[in-house]
Amino acid sequence: MKIVKVRLGQNSYSIDIGAGILNQTGQMLKELGLNEKAVIITNPVVQKLYGELVDQSLVAAGYKTTVLEVPDGEKYKSLESAGKLYQQLAEFGAERATPVLALGGGVIGDLAGFVAATYMRGVPFIQLPTTLLAQVDSSIGGKTAVNHGQLKNEIGAFYQPRVTISDIATLKTLPPAELISGLAEVIKHAVIKDEQFFIYLEQNLDRIKALDDGVLETIVMECAQIKAEIVENDEKDMASRNILNFGHTVGHAVEAVSNFQVAHGQAVAVGMVAAAKIAAELDLMDSVNVTGLERILQKAGLMTRLPKMEINRVIQTMRYDKKVRNDKIRFVLPRSIGQVFITDDVSSTVVEKVLREML
Ligand SMILES: NC(=O)c1ccc[n+]([C@@H]2O[C@H](COP(=O)([O-])OP(=O)(O)OC[C@H]3O[C@@H](n4cnc5c(N)ncnc54)[C@H](O)[C@@H]3O)[C@@H](O)[C@H]2O)c1
Repeated sequence: MKIVKVRLGQNSYSIDIGAGILNQTGQMLKELGLNEKAVIITNPVVQKLYGELVDQSLVAAGYKTTVLEVPDGEKYKSLESAGKLYQQLAEFGAERATPVLALGGGVIGDLAGFVAATYMRGVPFIQLPTTLLAQVDSSIGGKTAVNHGQLKNEIGAFYQPRVTISDIATLKTLPPAELISGLAEVIKHAVIKDEQFFIYLEQNLDRIKALDDGVLETIVMECAQIKAEIVENDEKDMASRNILNFGHTVGHAVEAVSNFQVAHGQAVAVGMVAAAKIAAELDLMDSVNVTGLERILQKAGLMTRLPKMEINRVIQTMRYDKKVRNDKIRFVLPRSIGQVFITDDVSSTVVEKVLREML
């Protein structure tokens, strides 16, 4: 098992990464001094696969448990779901010290985290991420949220878990498209912070896709380390944490203009290529790095060109995105593999030119 520490003063915690470690959940909670009752929040898909394993581990460690299911899907990451969960927590007799465990992907992690942050003004929260995206990204850094109307991820709280247990064995049951989508975020971490990790990924993509335990453990650990360090420097996302949005400026717009037909990871992949091409167009990065990025994304099964869509709508959507400051679109651009910077200074002419070339 590998352990990554997230150092945030009183809110510090560890991320435990390994194959087959979910059955240690009860023991780990006990070691944290969390006693008596525990609530597992999950969805029917994940419940069927791993619910009993986690529940039994808690019961064996002496916990009285309940499992609360939310239907599967982004649309259930809502205030309505949170409302139902508060009610169920109260019926179970959950108290201030009762831990809430999020067993699932990013949707369950964000929703259960939001509920844990707000029920009785905050109860202990545990992340048990079961998708690649959740293990390398959403379970790290304490952002919890629900969607509300047009507000996506904008009703929420920064609320750190007490521990994150990333069992990479759960990735074996993940639909291949979800694994590929998560790979976009893995590659993102390498491009923003670590060239060596990028080279490692290039060399090991086949083993990742074959779900090799050793390689999966390494990539989850590397991403956790990179994201932990970024979060430690800017927990509340006021400045430097923004670099994690690399690929997301164009990515979000592509997702939205496609009516969410393009998966998040695929959209982020296109967004990363767009950002790299913009950097090359502005002579800020060697175009050889753009080719390298395109090659690794293609090998991972990710998109590097825009699907057929109106470029004007993509640009318009970017303008409405929250990353627009003073009417300038905010971009995270690479200087090289392993180094990025934030800029408001990209003209829409350059953006339009690059996007048209990517069609
Ligand atoms: N908090 C953050 O910092 C942060 C960062 C990035 C994304 N997010 C959020 O994460 C969400 C996306 O997360 P996601 O990509 O994990 O999607 P998801 O939670 O919807 O999971 C994807 C699918 O995989 C299924 N699944 C989960 N684990 C499985 C397993 N082990 N085996 C088989 N099937 C499994 C789920 O039931 C679901 O159908 C979005 O809501 C996004 O806003 C949050």
